[in-house]
Amino acid sequence: MTKGNVFISGASRGIGKSIANHFAENDYKVIGTSRNDFEFDNKSENLIPIKLDITSRDDVKKCFNDLKSKDLLPDILINNAGITSDQLFLKMKDDDWDSVISTNLTGTYNLTKIFIRNMIKNKNGRIINISSVAGLMGNPGQVNYSSSKSALNGFTKSLAKEIGSRNITVNSIAPGFIDTDMTSFLDDDAKNGIIKDIPLKRFGEASDVAELTLFLASKEASYITGQTISIDGGLLMY
Ligand SMILES: NC(=O)c1ccc[n+]([C@@H]2O[C@H](COP(=O)([O-])OP(=O)(O)OC[C@H]3O[C@@H](n4cnc5c(N)ncnc54)[C@H](OP(=O)(O)O)[C@@H]3O)[C@@H](O)[C@H]2O)c1
Repeated sequence: MTKGNVFISGASRGIGKSIANHFAENDYKVIGTSRNDFEFDNKSENLIPIKLDITSRDDVKKCFNDLKSKDLLPDILINNAGITSDQLFLKMKDDDWDSVISTNLTGTYNLTKIFIRNMIKNKNGRIINISSVAGLMGNPGQVNYSSSKSALNGFTKSLAKEIGSRNITVNSIAPGFIDTDMTSFLDDDAKNGIIKDIPLKRFGEASDVAELTLFLASKEASYITGQTISIDGGLLMY
């Protein structure tokens, strides 16, 4: 008997993979996606990898039907998949804009739209959107990415207000700089320049974000909704 079904977009590596492993280790059944075929290192029956591009509504619908037929619709949805396509605004191509918005924002819409009905029916659910500090403080070269991530924070608040009465919480997590493929292009000089502004003097680990996600999904977090919770080593303080 598991604690519930969890659907995590972008679980083949980085933060999503760590979230998937944390939930599986804590007795949840995890369905994790990526655009490419992948396997989880740990061959647990609680970890189910599936190939899905969240920007394709047709594929999202097929995935929904497949999960429904297997009684695997999620109680917990973690919208984690995200991409960057950094460029100074004056040089930004339409495709840099379109690809980032369609993955980070519309992908979240696609999954939430299709999975929310079952949560409403069950009067139980958790939706956790992985946003970014860039959506809160901006970052040069990331107009597209920051826009997508601040939009997720607005998405979170409005949806939380709409469905709080159905016992569904909606929150977003705003990580700062986390050691994953997404930040691996930074050389040591660039990294050290960033670390100067982080009070905790290090990049975060994917597992730091995974622990917070696990908490927000737990019953102990049942009175937290509509929040954007930073996990950034103190980079941004209000
Ligand atoms: N790393 C950081 O410093 C940082 C900071 C703040 C916020 N974040 C956010 O945290 C989330 C995870 O980031 P990460 O650092 O773990 O990134 P990552 O290592 O690049 O992993 C991204 C994951 O998303 C998947 N993905 C990308 N596009 C997809 C699509 N259209 N459909 C399905 N899966 C897709 C990737 O797999 P495929 O490529 O195989 O599809 C991969 O599994 C992102 O939303 C990111 O914006 C990261």
